[in-house]
Order: sequence, then C-alpha cells, then structure tokens
Amino acid sequence: MEKKFKRTLITSALPYANGPVHIGHLAGVYVPADIYARFLRMRGEEVLFIGGSDEHGVPITIKARKEGVTPQDIVDRYHKIIKDSMEGLGISFDIYSRTTSDIHSATASEFFRRLYDNGRFEVQTSLQPYDEEARQFLADRYVVGTCPHCGSDRAYGDQCEACGTSLNATDLINPRSSLTSAPVTMRETTHWYLPLDKWEGKLREWILEGHKEWKTNVYGQCKSWLDLGLQPRAVSRDLDWGVPVPVEGAEGKVLYVWFDAPIGYISNTKELLPDSWEKWWKDPESRVINFIGKDNIVFHCIVFPAMLMAYGDNFQLPDNVPANEFLNLEGDKISTSRNWAVWLHEYLADFPGKQDVLRYVLTANAPETKDNDFTWADFQARNNNELVAVLGNFVNRAMMLTHKYFEGKVPERGELAETDIAAFREINAAADRLTSALETFHFREGLKEAMEIARIGNRYLQETEPWKVSKTDMDRTATILNIAMQICANIAVAFKPFLPFTADKLALMIGLGEQTWDQLGSDNIIPAGQQLAKPELLFEKIDDATIQAQLDRLARIKEENKIKNFKAAPQAPDVDFDTFMKADIRVGTVLECRKVPKADKLLQFLIDDGLEKRTIVSGIAKYYAPEDLVGKQVCFIANLPVRKLRGIESQGMILSAENADGSLVVIGPTAPVVPGAQVK
Ligand code: 2FM
Ligand code: ZN
Repeated sequence: MEKKFKRTLITSALPYANGPVHIGHLAGVYVPADIYARFLRMRGEEVLFIGGSDEHGVPITIKARKEGVTPQDIVDRYHKIIKDSMEGLGISFDIYSRTTSDIHSATASEFFRRLYDNGRFEVQTSLQPYDEEARQFLADRYVVGTCPHCGSDRAYGDQCEACGTSLNATDLINPRSSLTSAPVTMRETTHWYLPLDKWEGKLREWILEGHKEWKTNVYGQCKSWLDLGLQPRAVSRDLDWGVPVPVEGAEGKVLYVWFDAPIGYISNTKELLPDSWEKWWKDPESRVINFIGKDNIVFHCIVFPAMLMAYGDNFQLPDNVPANEFLNLEGDKISTSRNWAVWLHEYLADFPGKQDVLRYVLTANAPETKDNDFTWADFQARNNNELVAVLGNFVNRAMMLTHKYFEGKVPERGELAETDIAAFREINAAADRLTSALETFHFREGLKEAMEIARIGNRYLQETEPWKVSKTDMDRTATILNIAMQICANIAVAFKPFLPFTADKLALMIGLGEQTWDQLGSDNIIPAGQQLAKPELLFEKIDDATIQAQLDRLARIKEENKIKNFKAAPQAPDVDFDTFMKADIRVGTVLECRKVPKADKLLQFLIDDGLEKRTIVSGIAKYYAPEDLVGKQVCFIANLPVRKLRGIESQGMILSAENADGSLVVIGPTAPVVPGAQVK
C-alpha cells in the first residue's frame, strides 16, 4: 500500500432481487468482501461495509408479469430471502438496504438532475423495438426472431445462441416480442446518454497509469474496453419500473438500472450515516473498494467512475476493484433461470450450523484468477480432510490434553525449548504471509496460511508428545500444553475473518476475549491459570449419504431442464399412404423377456403375435427390468427382414418413444387387445 488511508468503504455488488443468492455470488463477491471487512476491523481500522438489493431492471418486471404479481412483490420476496440468508452466513454488512427505498430514489434522482443541469448528457433519438400489444418498448434481449446468419428461429435481439453471432434487434427476420409473441415494430424514442468518449482520456490515465496494481483480469478488461474506444451510453429507459427520470416531459421513462444501482452504494451510506456519510465518499483520506464479479467490471471501472467524475463535488473513485471470475457448479455454468445453483438459503436449511464449512470451501476454491468449479465431492473432502482432520483435530487434542493433565486450566510454563521457539518462528512467518495476502486481496492464499498455523500445531504435538512426557516430566508437559493453547489462540485470531463462527466458538472455549489482529504471532495470548471450557468439536465429518442427497437433487434438476428445453424434431419429409400401409404394425403379448448375455443394452423377448411365438431383440435393457415387461403388450413391426443381433435372430422391431433425456419408453395399447391386433 503506497498511500495511507484513514478509513475504508467496502462495497459489494448489489445482487438483483429477482432470485436468491447462490454460491457463485458468495465465492465471487460476498465472502471475500466479508473477509476483508472483518480483517480491517480486527486491525482496528475505520471500516464501513455496504450491501443491498438491486431492485430495478427489466428481468424483475418480466418475472412479475409471468407470475401475475407486481415487481414490488417480487423484490420484497427476494430482498428478504437474500438479506436473511446473508445474515445467516455471517456476512457482516453495516447496512443491507435496497434500491426501492425513498432515500435511494431521491439520491439517484438528484444525481441525474445535477448531471442534466450541468449539461453532462447528450440527447439522442433512435428507433427502438416496440411491442404493440404490451404497449411498451423492448430491450433487445426480449425480441426473438430468425437469425439472419444461421436461420435459427430462436435468436434473441442481442445474440443468436445457436451460432453465437452478436445481433441487434433490427437484424432479426420476423422479430416478435418474447413477452406477448406480438410482431415487433420500431418506434422513435428519446434518451439521455452519458458521453463516455469524453471521459476516455481521464479514465485511461486514472486506470492504465494510476492503477497498475489492480488484478490483471480487471486491468486487462479495462484496457481492452479503453483500447476499443468508448461510446456514449444511454442512461434512461422506456419502462414503468425504476427511478423516474426527473425531467419534465420524461413521463414513462426511468433511469437505466445500471445508472441507479451503483448510486445505491452512496444512498446506503447516507441511510446508515445521514450526518457523516460524506466523509466516506469525499475525504481524500477515505478509500473505496468495490467487490464485484467479472461481469460488472465495465460498470464499476468505466461507467460509474465517469458518472462520479461528471458529478464532481470531490467524489472519490474506487481505489481498487478486486473482481473475481466465475464459479461453476459440477462442471456447468451456474444459472438462476436453469435452477443450476446451490442456493444459500437452502444450504443453510440443509446444513444447519455449518456456515463456516461453506465459507471455507468457497474461499479455498475462490475463482480469484480463473473460473473454478464447486463440486460436492470437494466440499466433503475439504470438510473431512482439512477442517475435521487438521484444524478440528489439533484444537481438540490440545483441549483434551489440557483437561486431562491440568483440569482444563492453562498451565504455567517454564523455560521454552528450541521446539517451542521454532514453532512460533514458523507461526510468525505464516502470520506475515497471511497478513500480506489479505492486504492484497489474495484470500485463497490467506486461508492456506491460516491453515498452516493449525498444521504447525499438529506437528508440534506430534514432535513434543506431551502424552509421553507427562509420564516423567509434568513441568515440561505444562510448557508444551501452554504453547499448544497459545497456538489455539492464534488459530482463533487467524481464522476469524474466514470462519467467524468457528473462531468465536474457539475463543469462547479458551476464554479469549475479543480477537485483534495484533495478537497474531504472539506466543502469550492466554494467561496461565485461565480456565478452559469443556472441549466441543469444532467440525464433524460429513457422510456420503448427505453428499449423495445433494447430488441427487442436482441430477433431478438436470432431468427437469432437459424436459423443459426439449425441442421436438422437425417433421420428416412426407411419405405416401400406400408405403406407410405396407408396414405391418401389430400388438403382441410378452411371454418371456431376459437380458442378452454380454450386451448391456439388449433384451430378448418371446412374443405371442397372434399367429405364433416370435423372438425379438430390442435395445431397451437400460430402461427396463426384464421381469417387469412379462405379460405386457407391446407394438412391433412384424414384416421387417430378420436381423441377427449377438447371434440371436430378431424377427421384428419393438416400438418405443425417446424421451427428452434419451431414455426409451415402450409403446403399447392403453387397454388390453387380442395378440396380433393390427395398428391402423
Ligand atoms: O450483476 C448484478 O447482479 C448487478 N445487480 C450488480 C449491481 S452492482 C452495483 F452497481 F449496484
Ligand atoms: Zn444464428
């Protein structure tokens, strides 16, 4: 840190209140922001940690329309779920507010008005897609039509997902509204634009010259935006949900959600500190740090800073924007609309008391430099092999031994031996690395160093063997266990930003008052004579069945998605009636059915076809137990040439339908018929 700041304002991206928060949000934004806030507080720094829900924008209106409720109903529902679940995970916001609050509307409105009055906007009139039926303008995303490049009839007005081409709504052939399916027309509309091009020089200097220390993913994205050249951006929309544009004649227009949302950081500060909020934003000795995900970089590093520069009045630009990449789930992109996520409120319900396990796994796996994957197998392994086997194990051993030999009182120590001094030399080195990792936003690295302290503790007990020494030398045993308790105290300090529930539980067990960062590395945190509480396990093993239940849930969601996204095959070319009639399709009764040896797909049937018994081999073994089909009636084609499959002559083909997930369902009559009945 070159410059010394007096205080730090930490912001975390305001999540959209159109769904709950999931592990991707947590790993990318809220857990690292919380670690940082807790770290600075433990150092005695002046800190403010701001959060809140982003409650405007088109997707919220669409969800409301689909459910037949108001946008306010939607945001009320999710704001509560998000706020409660973040609190449940121990995200230590000083305020968690929302962008539908009055103070936010007033602040955002005033912000716009000042830019407007100072001539900071350009006005542009353009043709925009319009839904005549819904009587509203449409964002490009909500126009669907045929892609001019690949002919897919499901292209969106901003992109064709079939061929990947970026589009404008006007490129689509036969454009329709995805809200009502009505044909889309183009209408003229006027909006206010922030001329980013005019701020380009200042932004280049501020970021490319002034902030070379930013994470490479952030710096790189900013550089490529700046190198491409900035364009004016519309900051208003034709919509009836949002902060109204505070200009006469602007009825039916609201501020663009990305204009008002970052102002939410300011309005939330104001809401919390009506009399002293300004010092957090305007005093050059204050610094602002924005925790965000990579899809928010341009808004936080380019658009919002340009807004702040245009506003003037000494607003500070962010000092750092430690954006993370994305977290995937079991190899697939997390998606709210596909329900492909681990939702925080569900995790808290499924794993009560295990907030820190999730915090640990998400930090150990944080997508700091590249996208990363969350898997339930890794979650289990990290819990069982690291939290239980390393951290929990050390603390439990140290506590148990002190109870066993010294009735749970921290023993007086004698002169330190070289092993004791060496252990603390290592702890101090790990503590220094931990501190500098946290200062530079390397939270994964920091967590590793905290864990290193627990590993040092385990090695220390392994080397000093107090359970053996106690047989001959109680003075030395006392020293060893005093040191072991000091290591426990170091753990209660080092882990507090990462695992606050566990660190506090441990602090309570060892009688440590409030943890402060300057205690870290000290070999004399808890005084001799201190009575320890009864040892309780900090972590417990997570069994296979618990993990399997989560995997089963994800498997169910995958199946549901396949069915939701199923697209029937296009109709086959015409066939003439006489040709069709040549196929002799009839119903038979299954007399026998068994697996074909050494062929996992095949079943061998003996069918009563009304005339005689015939053998048919069918590739449906994956979907049926043979005994379940005996006695059933099935449709089959009787007049196909005989085919040999695995040495068995198959006299026909059993008909089945292929489901969305590729599974096969045998086709039969819905009521019993005579064997040999023909299908017409
Ligand atoms: O990407 C998002 O989820 C946005 N709602 C983030 C907004 S951050 C800030 F500007 F409020
Ligand atoms: Zn296409």
